Amino acid sequence: MENIDYLINGIEQEVRKWRRHFHRFPELSFQEEKTAKFIFDRLQSFGYVSVSKPTKTSVVASLKGRLPGKIIALRADIDALPITEENQVEYRSQKEGIMHACGHDGHAAMLLGAAKVLIQLQEQIHGEIRFIFQHAEEQQPGGAREIVASGALDGINAIIGLHLTNDLPVGKIGLTEGTVLANTDTFDLLIKGRGGHGSRPETTVDPVIIASEVVVNLQQIISRNTSALEAAVISVTIFQGGTSYSIIPQTVRLGGTVRSFGVTVRENIPLLIERIVKGITQAHGASFEFDYHQGYSAVINDPGLVGTLRKIGRNVVNAENVVVFPKRMASEDFSAYLQKAPGCFVFIGASNSEKGLIYSNHNSQFDIDEESLLYGMKVFIQSALTLTNDNSV
Ligand code: NI
Repeated sequence: MENIDYLINGIEQEVRKWRRHFHRFPELSFQEEKTAKFIFDRLQSFGYVSVSKPTKTSVVASLKGRLPGKIIALRADIDALPITEENQVEYRSQKEGIMHACGHDGHAAMLLGAAKVLIQLQEQIHGEIRFIFQHAEEQQPGGAREIVASGALDGINAIIGLHLTNDLPVGKIGLTEGTVLANTDTFDLLIKGRGGHGSRPETTVDPVIIASEVVVNLQQIISRNTSALEAAVISVTIFQGGTSYSIIPQTVRLGGTVRSFGVTVRENIPLLIERIVKGITQAHGASFEFDYHQGYSAVINDPGLVGTLRKIGRNVVNAENVVVFPKRMASEDFSAYLQKAPGCFVFIGASNSEKGLIYSNHNSQFDIDEESLLYGMKVFIQSALTLTNDNSV
């Protein structure tokens, strides 16, 4: 493995440079044209890989090893967020209102670095490695499903994704067996009453009061209709209605997010929402419109792959630095790939309190300790080398 360490050390500075380039020029979901071009051109310049664009702003490269083996996909997302950066670093975002505040700049750079190293190891590589540079993770319906639909993942035996996180200090790797991220769904409700003068509510069907009852009662779905052993969240995050002090409005608009881990819970919640809204509106002589949208599904890590990644993690950082990453109600469209093949989503620690790098992902002051890029790149490389030559995959 000395040869590999030599190659990795030789590319570390370049990976940091790439990451800073992506950071300076962030692009929003589905608009990653320049980012995709940069990645495409680099991969072309490396040679030995066939590079394609399954969609307008995503890039996939395939590296065929000299020896027979499995097809393993490595995935990085490449999009940025609609946030104005507040860091005063030399590589700060050059685009007002757009920022790589979730580390996807680092993901893209690490995967480019991994590709460059693995190309140089082609003689000893088994099977095939697919490098997936995915657009639009941050915006539903997400880029992953488009890449799956393009056929770019056909035939793969497993997929590995990484995420930089400031919830872990640099030098730690977080792994979770089974479910790690949640089903994320949203809903829209329109409560339709009858508007009128605020001084004469008896002549109206007041949608504000009815919507308020709905909001309170929706919480009982979690507390009374869902087992305490099943985790789920309903948050009403939109409550809009009314234009004037003296007018009872005609309608009130509600909206919110629903998070869950289990399949049955996920399927039950919209039925329960509808039942409650129907009952309350009927009781008050109002009516309603209800739209429920299934978003990203839960990310469920394959236990066998978690075992392999744990071993790899111990080689990259010390055993005590491979930790369990507690599952959470956040979401990721990495789950779309898991319909296709088993996978593992790995968290790479990136915070460093001594350097003041403590702001969480999606914060306007988010920044990473770039040392994390080295660890992530090593995890990508070792995963590809190990899994392409693993008969249990
Ligand atoms: Ni992210």
